[in-house]
Amino acid sequence: MNTMVNLISKDIPTRWYNIIPDLPEPLPPPMDPKEGPSRIQNLPNLMIGECLKQEFSQENWMDIPGGILDLFMKAGRPRPLFRATNLEKRLNTPAKLYYKSEFFSPTGSHKVNTALAQCWYAKQQGFERVTTETGAGQWGTALAYAAAIAGLKCTVYWVRSVYNWKKDRLYLMKLFGADVHASPSPVTEFGKTLYDKNPNHNGSLGIAISEGLEDSQNDPKATYALGSVLNHVLMHQTIIGLETQKQFEIFDDYPDVVISCLGGGSNFGGFAIPFLGDVLKKGKKIKFIAAQSQVAPNLQGKYEYDFADYAEITPMLKMCTLGHRTDMEPIKGDGLRYHGSSPILSLLRHKGYIDTVAYPKDEKHVFENTKMFIEAEGWLPAPESAYSVCCAIDEALKCKDSGEKKVIAFNISGHGFLDLPGYQAVLGLK
Ligand SMILES: Cc1ncc(COP(=O)(O)O)c(C=O)c1O
Repeated sequence: MNTMVNLISKDIPTRWYNIIPDLPEPLPPPMDPKEGPSRIQNLPNLMIGECLKQEFSQENWMDIPGGILDLFMKAGRPRPLFRATNLEKRLNTPAKLYYKSEFFSPTGSHKVNTALAQCWYAKQQGFERVTTETGAGQWGTALAYAAAIAGLKCTVYWVRSVYNWKKDRLYLMKLFGADVHASPSPVTEFGKTLYDKNPNHNGSLGIAISEGLEDSQNDPKATYALGSVLNHVLMHQTIIGLETQKQFEIFDDYPDVVISCLGGGSNFGGFAIPFLGDVLKKGKKIKFIAAQSQVAPNLQGKYEYDFADYAEITPMLKMCTLGHRTDMEPIKGDGLRYHGSSPILSLLRHKGYIDTVAYPKDEKHVFENTKMFIEAEGWLPAPESAYSVCCAIDEALKCKDSGEKKVIAFNISGHGFLDLPGYQAVLGLK
């Protein structure tokens, strides 16, 4: 039986898919708050020009520049789609399980897909430095790597609760030449207001975004790169799902269920959006499930306008949100701990196209299920990706009960080689 399909490099998708024109209703645009300066007018000072254009584009397909395609290949694209035959046997399920391997990545995750694109555009625009936030550390490492390749400097504000336990990932960012600050940090004015009150503040993605934005705004040679949430980020990530569609054709199969973990929405969006396009345009029937944590079930939040960052520097986005100043407890899959989710996915959630499951904050069920996957398939998922694996196993076990032979596709957004203390802590490995 065929257990792996990959594409050859000449078959790598050469266009990104922009779902915006295909959405069931127009995507609500960003909005200014009632008070204070216009955040929308400030956007060109915050974002890379080409990314800002892409953010509002109504073009369905966008050619990937040759320079970015070359970088994708250097970063190991295309990436295989595996059939999890060993796991199917172990679960004794009639379901067929397929997983996309974004863990084949130089820094460990799917985040390199948009990091390479953003740094390539930033360099073309003449910037010398990129700044950013990171939660799990995967985005910070991806941007540090992409910046190094593009010849840019990189500054990362890293949520402190994760910075404190992922020392090896810190060293990797430093090997790429990045400056890294635990956030909230004393180096930005906004960070200092929180740091001075509590130097051990756990931090959050919303706070780290505010710090990165403030830093780049104060330096005309710097720009900000965001690792998730925004339309152009999800569009860059559609390379994942577009490859997967071609790979399913070679497998001569098609998914009934599409699953991925969701923090801000970039890996879920990248994997699912091409299939959501099939549902919207070709009448396909697919169940989409976003795997989340009960500490940050943002897709179960209110669908309303909210800020993307804690300090309210960004415009307000219409999204499913828990509130931009909500406290959320740290977890090992900390990349999922964000208050809001992408406007595109929020609209589709609001319209009933996407289901969500939120796992308990002790993460035991998530890591125990993932241990089964590790034993059966041999790959080590990142803690965030473990949510995707866990959800796929839960769905496969439902098929065992019902006897349904569903085809379940899930995305493994990253590897966990730099996250082993997380597995150790939750599973009590000795
Ligand atoms: C490996 C991995 N997967 C998933 C996520 C969640 O982010 P997003 O929802 O943007 O994919 C992160 C965030 O840091 C991550 O590091």
